[in-house]
Amino acid sequence: MTKLAIIGGTGLTQLSNLNSLSHKQVETPYGMPSAAFVTGEFNGKEVVFLARHGNPHSIAPHKINYRANIWGLKQLGVEQIIAVAAVGGITTAMQPAHIAIPDQVLDYSYGREHTFFADGKLPLTHVDFTWPYTPALRQRLLAAAAQVGISITPTGTYGCTQGPRLESIAEIKRMEQDGCDVVGMTGMPEAALARELGIEYAAIAVIANWAAGKSDGEITMAEIEANLHLGMANTATLLKAFIELA
Ligand code: HPA
Repeated sequence: MTKLAIIGGTGLTQLSNLNSLSHKQVETPYGMPSAAFVTGEFNGKEVVFLARHGNPHSIAPHKINYRANIWGLKQLGVEQIIAVAAVGGITTAMQPAHIAIPDQVLDYSYGREHTFFADGKLPLTHVDFTWPYTPALRQRLLAAAAQVGISITPTGTYGCTQGPRLESIAEIKRMEQDGCDVVGMTGMPEAALARELGIEYAAIAVIANWAAGKSDGEITMAEIEANLHLGMANTATLLKAFIELA
């Protein structure tokens, strides 16, 4: 069976329903991943879980060792990744607590180690990134959502900012003009690194708040946490259905 990993973001530092846990600290040529890989059974199928920001949640988006995370998963034999990420909603459909399955990405982050093809460890390759999220994997997420009746937005462009601060109104206006539907801080280089190692990758974007300037007033952590709480409940149902269909 294809080995699946789930990378959890803000609001998802552990996977309830994951049985027979084993914790593996994996060392990679790029250093240590964000946390131990938790391997277990989720609905009778083997799943590896990684807390992207560490457990407890402490690693800022630009400090995450994305290469170690993806390399470590590859070392464990993982062939498919579902990444869960909290985002801000930019376009009208992307309202708080809602879920989107992005199909495109724009990268505004900087200074992150973003490739395995820079230090001679692997021969330089220019991987195709026309569709940054594996289309077949996205389709399976959409099918799972339909089966359990979770309303999701089936496409969208994910804009990745540097963080950890949230954006200014002007930054969000520019991102909207660029075609971004949601804004997050961790989608890149994660998606590209998975592609470089030939791991299928799709994302569940959970909308935590209206992006800057898209609602009255400022964005509060309390608002983010409340929406993530709602959105993550649907995410757990979606993941369960996705794994059942696998
Ligand atoms: N911007 C960037 N990342 C985020 C946001 C946001 O508004 N909300 C949750 N993650």
